[in-house]
Amino acid sequence: MGYNVAIDGPAGAGKSTIARLVAKEKGYIYVDTGAMYRALAVHFLKKGVAPEDTDAVSGACADADVSIRYEDGVQQVFLNGENVTGMLRTEEVGNMASMTSAVPAVREKLLELQRTLARENDVIMDGRDIGTNILPDADVKIYLTASAETRAKRRYDELTEKGMECDLDQIERDIRERDERDMTREIAPLKKAQDAILVDSSHMTIPEVIAEICSHCR
Ligand code: DC
Repeated sequence: MGYNVAIDGPAGAGKSTIARLVAKEKGYIYVDTGAMYRALAVHFLKKGVAPEDTDAVSGACADADVSIRYEDGVQQVFLNGENVTGMLRTEEVGNMASMTSAVPAVREKLLELQRTLARENDVIMDGRDIGTNILPDADVKIYLTASAETRAKRRYDELTEKGMECDLDQIERDIRERDERDMTREIAPLKKAQDAILVDSSHMTIPEVIAEICSHCR
């Protein structure tokens, strides 16, 4: 059994940045589960599946194979053998992932992959239901959050840095909508596990957040 750190929280809370840096400092593998949902979203977009059509989404899971490999310690996500890592971080894919991740067949598809990675490795795994559902016995559970305004601004900076044109108000609306969907869905909604440590990063620097999380880890 690996040493497992679960880190959950809403979109744009900085989970992936923080988890990647904690992984480096502690020598864990960073598992980005959002990227797995995003890879399936790419599959649904390619197939032209409407996210509201849950039967079509469930059906389309049958011919999707998601796997993970690490290259120089960086997670690469493969969809049916194709490396789709570079296609995952757009708003279109994020929104599709948020909508389709409420479908039970989608979550079932990724559950074993996530548990196997945690069983076989020391991991810090980020997502929405890691501490509550995927790894209920994780050694450390963190709930990382920040205000919606802060999260929208961070996403805006991330996208503009990559040269993508975007609108801050639209991003904030999307984030609030995604929060609502992720937190109110019937299956595995985003919520703080009872035994998770709450970290609100709205007024913290990245090194401060890392120090706080590392202080709880082996
Ligand atoms: O963390 P992210 O923005 O890459 O995640 C994209 C979407 O995937 C998110 O809106 C909800 C879904 N997701 C999920 O339901 N469960 C997870 N463990 C990770 C992501």
